[in-house]
Amino acid sequence: MNKLRLGVNIDHVATIRNARGGAHPDPLRAARIAETAGADGITAHLREDRRHISDHDIKRLAEELTIPLNFEMAATEEMLDIALAHKPHASCLVPEKREERTTEGGLDVAKGHNMLQSYVSSLQNENIRVSLFIEPDPVQLEAAAHLSADIVELHVGAYCDTTDSMKRQIELEKIIQAAAIADEIGLECHAGHGLTYGTVGPVAAIPTIAELNIGHFLIGEAIFVGLETTILEMRQLMDDARNQAVA
Ligand code: PXP
Repeated sequence: MNKLRLGVNIDHVATIRNARGGAHPDPLRAARIAETAGADGITAHLREDRRHISDHDIKRLAEELTIPLNFEMAATEEMLDIALAHKPHASCLVPEKREERTTEGGLDVAKGHNMLQSYVSSLQNENIRVSLFIEPDPVQLEAAAHLSADIVELHVGAYCDTTDSMKRQIELEKIIQAAAIADEIGLECHAGHGLTYGTVGPVAAIPTIAELNIGHFLIGEAIFVGLETTILEMRQLMDDARNQAVA
């Protein structure tokens, strides 16, 4: 059985730092603690408006991390140049709107196919694995396969954010189906957005999902019990759900 990997998104350590300027708290320090606590990778999103992670953060993370860096980026020339300069382990292409609070939906790969192709190729030519952040929708999965992406990351926000148990079940079915299709067509499957202790289990139990990327909940919970304790607990919930699913 493949171990389910945990990517810790450290954007919101930078959000807190930026509230006062200065250097504290340091996202790289958070990344090191995450690694000690069992994170398999670190995710950071350099947004066009630099509201949290900065260019300097990306440089330091790329130079100093000993676990893989997943660089989340919009498909723009500026971000492509930064990715090619730092050569992260992977780049996850995400849609980005200045006015949104967070990444509110998946990338429309089907519609943006021609525009995205050159980004996927340029990154892969430098041995950077390419992930596309998409809705759990068969049309988007097919389009991602046509682009020869390495990975799809399923946006699980609709599943996580609803409080209606029927709707949550419907959204979970979409994720299960999308993860099965990804496996059939040869795409590595990740998932992320909005995962918490309460929502992680059913997603972690899907055997063809290889990695979960989790940020906001972990950083928020860390305020109360510390980052290491929070990540250890999330790791345990993920492993328990995966082990029970295959038992
Ligand atoms: N994966 C992607 C592609 C994202 O854009 C985000 C949010 O930045 C996450 C995972 C993590 O989501 P959250 O912070 O809600 O855990």
